[in-house]
Amino acid sequence: MISFNSIRGIYFSPTGTTCAVTKFVVQQLALRWSLPYSLTSYTLPVEREQWKPISENELVVWGTPVYAGRIPNKTLEFVKEHLKCNGAKFIAIAVYGGRNYDDTLAELCQIATEGGLAPIGATAVVARHTFSSTLNAGRPNEEDFSALERFCKEIDSESATIFSAPGNPHPEKYYTPLKEDGTPALFLKAKPALDKQRCNNCGICVEICPMGSITLETEGVATTGVCIKCQACIQKCPQQALSFTDEAFLSHVRMLEKTFGRKQK
Ligand SMILES: Cc1cc2nc3c(=O)[nH]c(=O)nc-3n(C[C@H](O)[C@H](O)[C@H](O)COP(=O)(O)O)c2cc1C
Repeated sequence: MISFNSIRGIYFSPTGTTCAVTKFVVQQLALRWSLPYSLTSYTLPVEREQWKPISENELVVWGTPVYAGRIPNKTLEFVKEHLKCNGAKFIAIAVYGGRNYDDTLAELCQIATEGGLAPIGATAVVARHTFSSTLNAGRPNEEDFSALERFCKEIDSESATIFSAPGNPHPEKYYTPLKEDGTPALFLKAKPALDKQRCNNCGICVEICPMGSITLETEGVATTGVCIKCQACIQKCPQQALSFTDEAFLSHVRMLEKTFGRKQK
């Protein structure tokens, strides 16, 4: 007997890979147990406003991208506030760009446990690093999806042992991004640069910014609020009018490509 009657995938996914992975897991589990499923994104401000509380009859599959080795800092408050429901079963998914997922799974399972849910599984999946067009391009690939299929088959929904995810459940620090020379890459305040010649004021970036930080101005768009470097505006701009030109950021990307790129294997 399983203790839930539907499966709910919940995810934050500015550039789409966490959405794809969470959806795949949810569909596999729904097939396995012949149950209905639903998907809830909390990527956009409007989606966060429309939040529907978790019900105890749902198996929750929560997908988060890894930012600096943890749950993205700017989503943490939302996760803590909404990942609550006494007795609901819980699966954590961390999607990362091949550097490391560090404490993400442990942190997510800890928040779920504190919110009354019961973790029964967790997995981390490599995806293309959203900072780079080459780093882990094509991932998750067939092999990654096969591994996810096995993960879904092996979940014991009514396991009596308390599940423990790898990592520190109470992390204090975030990973410090490094430049090519090994010193800290300080790009916290960097914002996408706009090529005014290319921007045609279509407003797509305004709609898809997870922080609601981009506004339409007469001379093109402007990032007026906080930027989490998620790359959504850059990847989704049909005019390729936005890019990161911050030298510390670019040096970090080169470091990632050199250290974690294919040639290193
Ligand atoms: C601000 C930021 C920080 C990141 N930090 C890490 C990291 O610490 N380790 C890692 O392997 N990948 C890291 N990544 C890569 C993302 O985890 C990866 O690209 C993920 O697939 C993005 O998910 P999305 O496509 O759902 O937006 C980072 C990405 C961003 C935007």
